[in-house]
Amino acid sequence: ADAVATDVHACHKPSLPPGAKPIACCPPNYEDKEPIEYVIPKYTSLRIRTPAHDYADLDKYTKAITIMKSLPDDHPHSWTQQSRIHCAYCHNSYTQVGHKGVEMQVHFSWIFLPFHRWYLYFYERILGKLINDPTFALPFWNWDAPEGMEMPAIFTDRRSPLYNALRNQNHLPPTLVDLNWNGRSTGVDGSGDVEANLATMYRQVYEVKRPLCFYGKPYRAGDKPLSGSGNGSGSIELVPHNTVHSWTGDKTQPNIEDMGALYSAARDPIFYCHHANIDRMWSVWKSFGREDITDPDYQNASYVFYDENLNLVTVKNSDAFDTKKLGYDYKQLDLPWLKYKP
Ligand code: C2O
Repeated sequence: ADAVATDVHACHKPSLPPGAKPIACCPPNYEDKEPIEYVIPKYTSLRIRTPAHDYADLDKYTKAITIMKSLPDDHPHSWTQQSRIHCAYCHNSYTQVGHKGVEMQVHFSWIFLPFHRWYLYFYERILGKLINDPTFALPFWNWDAPEGMEMPAIFTDRRSPLYNALRNQNHLPPTLVDLNWNGRSTGVDGSGDVEANLATMYRQVYEVKRPLCFYGKPYRAGDKPLSGSGNGSGSIELVPHNTVHSWTGDKTQPNIEDMGALYSAARDPIFYCHHANIDRMWSVWKSFGREDITDPDYQNASYVFYDENLNLVTVKNSDAFDTKKLGYDYKQLDLPWLKYKP
């Protein structure tokens, strides 16, 4: 076999779930461009991502998002385009290089973590560029610690560009997130339960030792998406990734939009904050001495993005294993769940 690669030139209309308003998801002006291989830029100081409930850079973030939202829809850095990247990569917009008609799908397999790392990487760099700050760093929603278990307040202020109306209105602060959410709450009074959440973190992250169980099943060139009954998702993608998505989305919408559906999730600014913690959990898991996957079909899987300098670039998994190489890191925090062996 071979590694999956994105055929950007084969981009077409997405196939959306019933009830979704039709949208286009392909990037602007890619037709006559050939993506170039990405060279990771050098940096002088590391970007340090910090928890959303204790985020010192809110003014910068708000300013950057305001600028992003003011760009015309067809600008690669616009808010609309950034959210459509997610739609394009998970609703049958892209096909795979060398496999006409076979969808490029970034969920349900071992490419889930590296794809989303690259996605956030460019999102962060673009925001930094828009405010001329090469050290700008994203916040993460640290739902894995008691102090981070509410929906972060920076996203619930109605006057903020980080606000989004399409969320579950019963889950606003001070309701606690339920990391095991399956449509109804397991805790008392519709709230999540701190101890149950911590035990979930232990089970889904610490206790999962084999790389394929954590990352997900192999997905190689020519493979159809591993969704449905043959779901190839790793432990972290299923829980808490999927559960926090559907816990956040608005249950009264046809597909739990925005956060509860793949095509619409990245329209909610909280998406990137949730994913920053998923990405952090990957770093945390590695800090336990766990291994990367060495299979070349994993190492060489690649995606296409617009970078902060408007170059259309190709990036691959093996360049994403070390966040410091990518110029960012996470603030070190206690991991209370390590003491929650069931
Ligand atoms: Cu691409 Cu949280 O999903």
